[in-house]
This record gives sequence, C-alpha cells and structure tokens, in this order.
Amino acid sequence: MSVVSARARAAAQSIQKVESFFMSYRAAVEKTPAVADFTFGNPQEMPLPGLVNAVKTHADPKSVDWYAYKTNEAEACTFLADVLTGELGLPFEREDIALTKGAFGAIKMAFTMLLEPGDECIVPLPGWFCYGPMLAAAAAAEVQVPLAPGTFDLDLEAIADAITPRTRIVVVNTPHNPTGRIYSRAELQGLADLLEAKSAEIGHRVWILSDEPYRRIRFDGIGFTTPAVVYPHTLIDYSYGKIMLAPGLRLGYLAINPGLPAAERKELRQLFFAVQMADGWNVPDAPLIYALPDLESVSIDIAAIARRRERMLGALTQWGYEMTRPEGTFYLWGQAPGGDGDAFTTRLQQSGVYVMPGSVFDRPTDFRICLTATDDMIEGALPALQAAAQHA
Ligand SMILES: Cc1ncc(COP(=O)(O)O)c(C=O)c1O
Repeated sequence: MSVVSARARAAAQSIQKVESFFMSYRAAVEKTPAVADFTFGNPQEMPLPGLVNAVKTHADPKSVDWYAYKTNEAEACTFLADVLTGELGLPFEREDIALTKGAFGAIKMAFTMLLEPGDECIVPLPGWFCYGPMLAAAAAAEVQVPLAPGTFDLDLEAIADAITPRTRIVVVNTPHNPTGRIYSRAELQGLADLLEAKSAEIGHRVWILSDEPYRRIRFDGIGFTTPAVVYPHTLIDYSYGKIMLAPGLRLGYLAINPGLPAAERKELRQLFFAVQMADGWNVPDAPLIYALPDLESVSIDIAAIARRRERMLGALTQWGYEMTRPEGTFYLWGQAPGGDGDAFTTRLQQSGVYVMPGSVFDRPTDFRICLTATDDMIEGALPALQAAAQHA
C-alpha cells in the first residue's frame, strides 16, 4: 500500500521514461564527458548580458515593499497587454494577463481553471513530455494523438476521432517541440471549425491551450499565427525561458483571448488570483516582475541557431539521415539510422555525443538534437554522427 496519492503516482509514472533517460545520461556523462550535449534545452554558454543586467538592476530594492507579496502587477501586465496586442493582433487588456512561473506555471493554471477530475486533454504525439505528468497531477487524462506522419501537421481526422464527451482541452504547441513545425492559419482554422462542431456535438466547450514558448524562435522570415485569432476559446501560455535560454529563471504568463465572449472573459479574469494562490503562489519572483519590460527585448542569437540548423541538416542528410526541417524552436528531429533511437543514443554516448532518444517522446524510432550547443560542439560531434550513420 503506497503512502502517496494516486495522482502523485500517476505523475511519476508519466514522467518515468524521461527520468530514467536523465539518470542514464547523467551516469554516461560521468564515464564519458560530453564532447557535445544536445539533450535538454539548457544553456551551454554564459547567460546573456542583457538578462544579467536586468535581474541585477531590479534585485536592488527601491521601496519597502519591493519584496512584498506580488500578484499580477499592473505595470508589467499593462506592458504585456500592449506587447501582445502588437505581436498577436488581438486587443489584450491588462486584466487578461496572469504572470506565472514560466510556461509550466501558465499551463498549470489553465489545467486548474478548466479541467474536472477525469477530463481528457488531447496532446500531440510526438510532443513535450510534461503535459502528461501535469495532467496526472490534475487527476485528468492525457490522450496522445499522432501528428500527421512525415509532415507533422495537425491530423484533424485523428483529433476528431479522439474527442469524447470527456474532452475538455486540445493542446496546440506552435512552434512545435520537438519537430519545429509552425502551424499555418489555414490549418488552425481547420482545427477551430472542427472544435466548434465537436463542442456543439458533445454539449460543452472544447478549449485550445496554445503553448507558445518558442513563438519568437522562427527561421526564414516565417510568420506566426496564434490559434487565438481563429478560435475564441483559446488560452495562451508563454515563457521567457526559451528566448533568453534561461529556463532556470521562471518567468512567463497565461493570457486570455480577448475574443472570448465577455461573460467568460470576465469569469476567467476573476479566477486568476485564486488559482495562482491555490496553485502555490504561482507568480514570478518580485525582481523578475520589475525586470519584465527590460527582459522583453533580450534574445538569443536566432541567426546563429539557424546557421547551426543548416550545418547539422546539411551534414546529416548527406550521410543518409532522414531529418525534419524545423521552421522554429531550437530542436532538430529525425529518424535514428537503423530505426532504434535508444540504441543510436547509446552508441553516440560512447563518443561523448549526447542526444535525446525518441522514446522519451513515445517515438522510439526517432531522436532529437538541441541546437543550443555551441558551434564547436557541433563540429566536434559530426564525426561520431557520421560513424553512427554508417553503423546502421
Ligand atoms: C513545448 C513546451 N512547453 C512548455 C515548456 C515549459 O517552459 P518553461 O520551462 O520555460 O516554463 C517547455 C520547456 O521545455 C516546452 O518545450
């Protein structure tokens, strides 16, 4: 008989494959130090000076209540409403914004606000591996729906088939981790039409949670459409952790779609504080709230990520790898030569090259490379990647 709750055990079960990969990766690095670490989206160089300066400046108290309890502070939320209005083309107001501990915190809020125990949430496959544990902690069910094979488009037929009377949320992650896909407006409109029809059929609203932490990491001048412009019942989450490559600095937000019917918009706005408090004071630390306007313009060198994408794709495809060309994010997704992502990952580890096996995304034939590695790491890893292709 376990002493912990069924929800905690379900969350642990859901994250188990990631945890066991993490433990084996840590043990392997002890044995064979990394020539190149392409696993998690972590920084491999010193933090951006703009980030460090903003945090230092705003850690210095300017009033007695500098470090008092903070919530959705008016100045930061007004600033964000203006930024989002310009960026996404929807008329946000400051009351539509909840400041959270990164995208994690915003997703947690969305789940607390929308899900009843036993509800189902549709997530894309392959997809980020933390929706599952967070849903389990909310006593809800993750329903994985494969993206279209090859293109990784939203598979509307598969989504339609997966919707049941218990479906409450469909997660749209764009730009998409791990494939780098950015969904077009037409594709999102198709999803919106489907969810409109299905909501009417099952007798309650199916929401979209638009998970957009990579929204500003895009290549080749490709644009971005939030599902919120085509589907009123959309909540948006964002994080500064990706664009600043500082996931240990917990800053993000949840935004209500201004297009939501007025009564529902008001109800959600009024829930913000209670939910943030109930979720364990899910609000960023005070200095980060003050620093937010300064942090807004801090960005990793996206051109450098694009160059690394070209270098890697060029080399890997030349050696016979089948790779997806990402339109955004800092990941590369492809098929492991030989078709066994775990075996491929283990083989590379022997040369000090660390990638993430597709099995942690429930796609065991594939693998992911994180391009936050340095140019030197990429060059250093290429011989092992070439050899691994031949080995298959
Ligand atoms: C798709 C996706 N959503 C949300 C998150 C959470 O972002 P953060 O850690 O910045 O809150 C991540 C982080 O890896 C992610 O890849």
